[in-house]
Amino acid sequence: VASASAPVEKSYIMIKPDGVQRGLVGEVIGRFERKGFKLVGLKMFRCPRQLAEEHYGELKDRPFFPKLVDYITSGPVVCMVWEGDGVVASARKLIGKTDPLEADPGTIRGDLGLHKGRNVVHGSDSPENGLRETGEEELITEGMNVSVTAN
Ligand code: PPS
Repeated sequence: VASASAPVEKSYIMIKPDGVQRGLVGEVIGRFERKGFKLVGLKMFRCPRQLAEEHYGELKDRPFFPKLVDYITSGPVVCMVWEGDGVVASARKLIGKTDPLEADPGTIRGDLGLHKGRNVVHGSDSPENGLRETGEEELITEGMNVSVTAN
């Protein structure tokens, strides 16, 4: 149980354009819901180029960067904020390894993806990035206090 001073950990989860186009939004959300994390923000939008470049700023020197930005801006994405103790690490387990061919069966990428450049979903890689990425878009509004039993 989080104390009043410690904010609850948040992970920014984005269903990428291939996931939206393939009709996997419900499937991805369902997996996080069944795990028991709390959805506190949700938005579907077409990511502007500048925001995509900022979001993936740490990768700007990688050879695949232009393709990654093209892909992320190619169609609507569904962005979410999920909350709960340990949500960042747990979400990464639910999502699976970056390359869907290496991701374990039972994970989102392992079950639903084939290619590193079309890997269905993004999840924050640290609690710090979870907060940063959550702040990139106004995703959380007031009144999200749906009571969920954590234990
Ligand atoms: S790193 O720095 O090498 O460990 O990067 P990695 O974790 O493998 O990947 C970081 C994000 O870049 C995406 N990626 C790609 N996109 C398009 N094409 C290619 N070839 C490619 N390789 C990696 C990868 O899906 C990661 O995206 P996110 O959204 O952060 O999971």
